[in-house]
Amino acid sequence: MPSIRLRRLRKNEYIRDWVSEALLRPKDLILPYFVTEGKGVKKSIPSMSGIYQFSSDNLVKDMEGLNSLGIKAILLFGICSRKDEKGREAYSKNGVVQKALKKIRKNIKDIVIITDVCLCGYTSHGHCGIVKNQNFYIDNDTTLKTLAKIALSHAEAGADFVAPSAMMDGQVRSIREALDKNGFKETGILAYSAKYASSFYGPFRDAMDSSPQFGNRKSYQMDFRNSDEALKEIGNDIEEGADIVMVKPALAYLDIIYRTREKFNVPIAAYNVSGEYALVKGQGSRVKGQEEKNMVLEILTGIKRAGANFIITYHAKEVARWLKR
Ligand code: PBG
Repeated sequence: MPSIRLRRLRKNEYIRDWVSEALLRPKDLILPYFVTEGKGVKKSIPSMSGIYQFSSDNLVKDMEGLNSLGIKAILLFGICSRKDEKGREAYSKNGVVQKALKKIRKNIKDIVIITDVCLCGYTSHGHCGIVKNQNFYIDNDTTLKTLAKIALSHAEAGADFVAPSAMMDGQVRSIREALDKNGFKETGILAYSAKYASSFYGPFRDAMDSSPQFGNRKSYQMDFRNSDEALKEIGNDIEEGADIVMVKPALAYLDIIYRTREKFNVPIAAYNVSGEYALVKGQGSRVKGQEEKNMVLEILTGIKRAGANFIITYHAKEVARWLKR
């Protein structure tokens, strides 16, 4: 009988190889980083074991290993200590992200740098836009101008892609126009197109100190009961000039990734967000070692299988290490 088993195996291997789209590759992973002011800082984030806030010197040190792991891109978030009503620090030439960008550019070769463009980490109220009328609404159009300024300041400092995550209407267009007008036609846009109002962002908000001080984000992030709206948002962003569209979170939204894949012929990024990471890593999690590895690979492969080309994930380094072996 052994010869029959062998033949079957060979047949299966052959077919599996042929439909190998769902293979995870280190080059498809995007690693998020939190950068903070100062020197010599490496501060662990309690709700996200293994993830740190780095000052830019330590960030560069940590990034030195990425090339040999095969990781090609990072997503950069700034931790701002000078917050105000309007989030002015977000577009300062000497802002924490702008300074880090220059430093990375100088010290690390061949890395794609994507920067988060939003206001929630820079405003005293913690919302993603400018708040008008004694906290009653977010002023979409004023926010667009600020987002364009932020994106431009990142491009000037060396970002390859800017990633607007504020979910304001028209944000991709206004950023695209500002970049083009100022000679940054080559700077790409990774649009957080379908971003749901989710309970899976908690650990991230701890890391960034960016929780809304009043109200919530349901007026500008999407209702998770709705899927057609996501496709509409994605279509709009493609029209406005997005180079890559994003679905976020990933795990509870595989259908959205799949429908996007079916409907649009564009690169798709999925954000395996902080709460999804914490599910596996969380304090008290009894999953360890090989079991943890298998679980992470299964989750990320599922996201790929659904149709994502890129996965933004806090697991990126360990996964790249596992894949290498
Ligand atoms: C900012 C932003 C958030 C995340 C990425 N960009 C938080 C939010 O919208 O509240 C979440 C990422 C994560 O949870 O890992 N707008």
